[in-house]
Amino acid sequence: MTKSALVFDPFSDEYFINPFGIYQRLRDEAPVYYNEQYDFYALSRHEDVAAAFKDFSTYSSANGVTLEEIKSGTHAMAQSIIWMDPPDHRRMRSLVNKVFTPRAIEAQRSVVRERIDHYLSQVDPSSFDAVADFSALFPVEVIATMLGVPVADRQNIRLWLNTALERGPGRSTLSKAGREAMTQTGLLYYNLIQQRRADPEGDMISALIHAEVDRDDGTRTRLDDIEIAGFCTLLGGAGAETVTKLVGTAMVLFDRHRDQWEHLRADRTKIPAAIDEVLRFEGPVQYDMRTTRKEVVLHGITIPQGSAVMLLAASANRDERAFPHADDFDINRDRTQAQNLGFGYGIHSCLGAALARLESAEALDRLLDFIPDYAVDRAGLHRVSMTSVAGYSNVPIRRR
Ligand code: HEM
Repeated sequence: MTKSALVFDPFSDEYFINPFGIYQRLRDEAPVYYNEQYDFYALSRHEDVAAAFKDFSTYSSANGVTLEEIKSGTHAMAQSIIWMDPPDHRRMRSLVNKVFTPRAIEAQRSVVRERIDHYLSQVDPSSFDAVADFSALFPVEVIATMLGVPVADRQNIRLWLNTALERGPGRSTLSKAGREAMTQTGLLYYNLIQQRRADPEGDMISALIHAEVDRDDGTRTRLDDIEIAGFCTLLGGAGAETVTKLVGTAMVLFDRHRDQWEHLRADRTKIPAAIDEVLRFEGPVQYDMRTTRKEVVLHGITIPQGSAVMLLAASANRDERAFPHADDFDINRDRTQAQNLGFGYGIHSCLGAALARLESAEALDRLLDFIPDYAVDRAGLHRVSMTSVAGYSNVPIRRR
């Protein structure tokens, strides 16, 4: 039987339902793939993706990190650390590292536990949706509390973000509703920044208002409203969607691998390794985009200067050239086999990784007690069709 022509469309139903078959073909048949329809290149092998993440002088983030940002130039209106190259990135990262300290994150553990217990107390353990009724709800509360967003607006951050990220098959750009949702988010933060300027509190927005950053011209100034709102939007977004997906995917994977769930129940010290394996096997962030600052020749293919390049971290994490038996889900995997790219790699690697690990670990630990013996209703599983992000919006489970 001859193989069908290799088509990789990151906005197709086929891709949203199961990207891993396509990734395998990309790695084997077209490690530098060019998509004519959307005009981008895709790197899929671990070695190439990791090298590109590291090489920020060739693979720039300054034009945006999603296809839409690069093609539309929308990001040029805003300021965000994720869209910066050095030296701006270095300055901003060292500033936000001061606010996003390991201590500040550890201090959230009680908030995380309280929110997890709150949402679990609202559901019936004999039957509930592990995402819609649980993992979608608590992460946004944590980051919103850290930022200083009032209770009434916390869940809105998540709902607006969902609207903004949603893509239908064949639709690669923001919908009208998505644009409105982004405006609402920006307004919320803008108003909060004005309030905190007048009346500071002990939250992250107040800390950012008082933080100073070194500028190109050698001066040292405070952040302006656009910079702070941009950072809040990024944190709120990253904090709202990703852990939600990681926990939902974990419950699906452990349903398929009962023995490993039992193993975790018996040995909770394995939880961090389990989280890393979920992140490797089917992480929430599938890819990040870059723009080439110079011509690149890779696997005999020339990528011209100024090209959009998709770094398929989720494919790299399944590359058998890097991870033996890469398609096996195994929480006992030797974690030194290769770099797990689920949190990115290099200068932009996830600022919230410690918080994400803490939230996911607390959630799994509680779920191990709450539903020690569960089954996923597989007919009710529903995957999101979003740009960059993958996972489930619904994971119905019942007690066995
Ligand atoms: C499982 C959860 C998460 C995953 C899989 C994840 C994944 C990632 C990835 C892949 C990047 C790199 C982006 C790039 O190279 O262009 C990134 C960056 C970032 N993440 Fe996360 N993230 C998670 C949770 C969080 C949380 C909870 C926060 C904060 C509340 C956060 C904040 C950020 C920020 C601010 C950046 C940009 C860092 C920079 O540009 O220097 N992330 N994340």
